[in-house]
Amino acid sequence: MNALLQPLSIGDTLLQNRVIMAPLTRCRATADHVPTPLMTQYYAQRASAGLIIAEATMAMENNSAFWMEPGIYSPAQIKGWKEITDAVHAKGGKIYLQIWHGGRACHPLLNDGAQPVSSSAIAIDGEVHTPQGMQPYALPRELTIQEIQEIVQGFKTASINAKEAGFDGVEVHGANGYLIDQFLRDGVNKRTDQYGGSFENRGRFLFEILDAVCSVWGSKNVGLRISPLNSYNDIIDSKPIGLYTWLAAELNRFNLGYLHVMRSDFFSKQSGDVMTPIREAYQGTLIGNMGYSPEEASKAIEEGKVDAVAFGAYFIANPDFVERIQYDARLNTPDTTTFYSPGSHGYTDYPFMDVSN
Ligand code: PHB
Repeated sequence: MNALLQPLSIGDTLLQNRVIMAPLTRCRATADHVPTPLMTQYYAQRASAGLIIAEATMAMENNSAFWMEPGIYSPAQIKGWKEITDAVHAKGGKIYLQIWHGGRACHPLLNDGAQPVSSSAIAIDGEVHTPQGMQPYALPRELTIQEIQEIVQGFKTASINAKEAGFDGVEVHGANGYLIDQFLRDGVNKRTDQYGGSFENRGRFLFEILDAVCSVWGSKNVGLRISPLNSYNDIIDSKPIGLYTWLAAELNRFNLGYLHVMRSDFFSKQSGDVMTPIREAYQGTLIGNMGYSPEEASKAIEEGKVDAVAFGAYFIANPDFVERIQYDARLNTPDTTTFYSPGSHGYTDYPFMDVSN
């Protein structure tokens, strides 16, 4: 049997297979960050994934990095997500919510004029989509210790809300140059207090968030996503393998449901094998992600390199990706031009397998 199709237990959740749907920013919520019926249809279509990790979702107000992204801080948002989790569960699926804070990636034009915040006052070198077209990223303000504590509490509240919305667990977004990553990596974090400098200090913000989230969910129902080498959002670390091998070992004491590792760089600025040292240092369930074909993924599981694999673009284009693996069927090709565009086209209209012949 294909190793991808074997079941896997994560915390209180039994996954029917090891084909995980990666969190995918699709920008189909309302301008008030409320999930829509179209999103319900999209996630329900993909319920055969072993686990859906729903897209990056604002843990608190005024930290939007993407126009039309969802949140989990208002009653309307909780209600919208509840419809989604009910629809996925009705089809036998399992669904976690990825919660995040975008930090310096949050533009004032997406956040009622609010200046973004970060570990240090250094702007992303680049431009972002806003309601007024492409704009350069804004200069963030360095967070005070008290504000750091407020954000930790914000993650706790978001975790409580995610529970009310019927999710099976939550994934903390520690990847891709967003706020937690802005503390972890020294290309951005220049702080001289207890949140900057040593690995321990740069990991402190993440550990405080994990403590807060685990206090709501139980650590076994909490996942974490990291991206040691990804330079997306203009971030880099001077010793990525050292930092993330240390982090993986430290994470053992949290007994998380899983660690989810993006293994490469969208822009190929850094390369290397992060999976082997992390597998050696980390004792829990490991999910690999980025650039795996179903064949490589199944082999990696068989060889014990990872326990499961998360797929992004394949799930965008193939709502029945798991069945297609099962029947070795042809795969639809994703259309990158509709990844973030509004409406159902390129979202809920990818065809299912033709089973009539
Ligand atoms: C992310 O949330 O990590 C993310 C979102 C959109 C992208 C890439 C990464 O295009």
